[in-house]
Amino acid sequence: MTAASNAVSSLPNPIAASPAIAAHVDAIVAELKSAQSALTGARPADPSRKAAFDAALARTAEVRGRGPLMPYLGTGLGNGPLVELLDGSVKWDMLNGIGVHMFGHGDPRMVAASLRASLADLCMQGNLTSNQDSVAFAGFLVDEAKRSSRLAHCFVSNSGCMVNEAALKVCMQKTNGAPRILAFQDCFMGRSITMSQIGDTAAYRQGIPLSTLVDYMPFYDPSMGARSIEMAVWHLKQYIHRYPGQHACFVMELVQGEGGFNVAPREFFVALMETCKAAGIPVWDDEVQSFGRTESMFCFERLDLGQYIDVVTIGKMSQACACLFAADMNPKPGLLSGTFTASTSAFQVGLEALRTMRDGGYYGPQGKNAKLHAAFREHANALVAKRPAWFTPVKDAFGRESTQYVGGTGGMCRMTPFGGDKDRILKTMNAAFEEGVMAFYCGHGPYHLRMLPPVGVMQPEQWGPVFEILERAMGRVAEK
Ligand SMILES: Cc1ncc(COP(=O)(O)O)c(C=O)c1O
Repeated sequence: MTAASNAVSSLPNPIAASPAIAAHVDAIVAELKSAQSALTGARPADPSRKAAFDAALARTAEVRGRGPLMPYLGTGLGNGPLVELLDGSVKWDMLNGIGVHMFGHGDPRMVAASLRASLADLCMQGNLTSNQDSVAFAGFLVDEAKRSSRLAHCFVSNSGCMVNEAALKVCMQKTNGAPRILAFQDCFMGRSITMSQIGDTAAYRQGIPLSTLVDYMPFYDPSMGARSIEMAVWHLKQYIHRYPGQHACFVMELVQGEGGFNVAPREFFVALMETCKAAGIPVWDDEVQSFGRTESMFCFERLDLGQYIDVVTIGKMSQACACLFAADMNPKPGLLSGTFTASTSAFQVGLEALRTMRDGGYYGPQGKNAKLHAAFREHANALVAKRPAWFTPVKDAFGRESTQYVGGTGGMCRMTPFGGDKDRILKTMNAAFEEGVMAFYCGHGPYHLRMLPPVGVMQPEQWGPVFEILERAMGRVAEK
């Protein structure tokens, strides 16, 4: 397996150039593939491992101070969408660390990139000590973003939350310390003290003294259509009128993640972004969850919104996280730095994933992301038709009923059984885990079953076995 060059100059790259290293990497990956070939579908836990597995989970809970949300401890062996757990079970992983593992488990290309990275002189790179792969990573993102936006520069850090902190600082400095932030209801932005305050979940900021001024905006409501756009613009103008010159930014997820995989049409964002522009408020697009998963690499590209975006943050599938900003947002020295940017393997695996997605036919209306989503909808709609009793109308915040049981876009897939009731969605998630599918939840009422499949490797026909298991899991919850 030859390495794609991470060179940003014609100067030598000794690891990538060595035929002996390439041959050894190939031999290791071949060995791995033979172990992976045993994982071909979901498998129940091995009863003989139960006691040891339970002890390992208890130790996990003891060390962390609480038990994990789901009893996941991997052996380290996986095969694309399939992963083996320490209890001997094999699961279809439709969650992937909430969207991190775009190529699932043990993808040979990613493993090879990681092996090469392990031979570099540094495990962690930083703002003072960068190898050329760090520049290649940031440069890749800038070049992709530049095609349809004014974004010109990139700051790298190792969590979505940290690049969000960077984005907020950039916006605040640009607006001379404007103290207020506009954000959508139900948004999620990470767990720092500031991001927990902007994120619209009360439980995530329990006990934290509130020091951040946030003005919440309604997200698009499909049942109201154009009225929803009118109402949101009215809301925004009210805030601007009430607090003139006080807003550092409007932060928007173009597809809401934790908030419920909610989507909105271009006109909704254009109306809000134009209002921001007229008032001199920077627009910050938080794509930490959606990046790479929609029908374009950056979600703003598909919606043709690049001209309005001043700052964008990305993370998860890219392995290292990034804050990109336009030239006129470039902050003064000293505002952005940190000991670590990311690990060498995060840069090399991230670049491998990004290049494979860009060059492998994943984007566009006929791309692999769109096709995987279409196959998801086909299976999901068939299940709704087959089991109508499980799909009861979902009530929105105004008490209006909806029969939209299937939603999302690209590699962000959601289903809403049992009227979107939180307790039954969580029970479905747990039953699915036991039966062999890992999924999660999203939304703040209604709640949805959330899936972030490994788009890079999952084949549309693999929804077949996944939905067989989901049907069994929902059946168990429906019976109770
Ligand atoms: C939209 C969005 N922003 C920011 C974050 C925070 O990223 P991290 O958990 O890497 O800090 C997340 C994480 O789920 C997210 O979904």
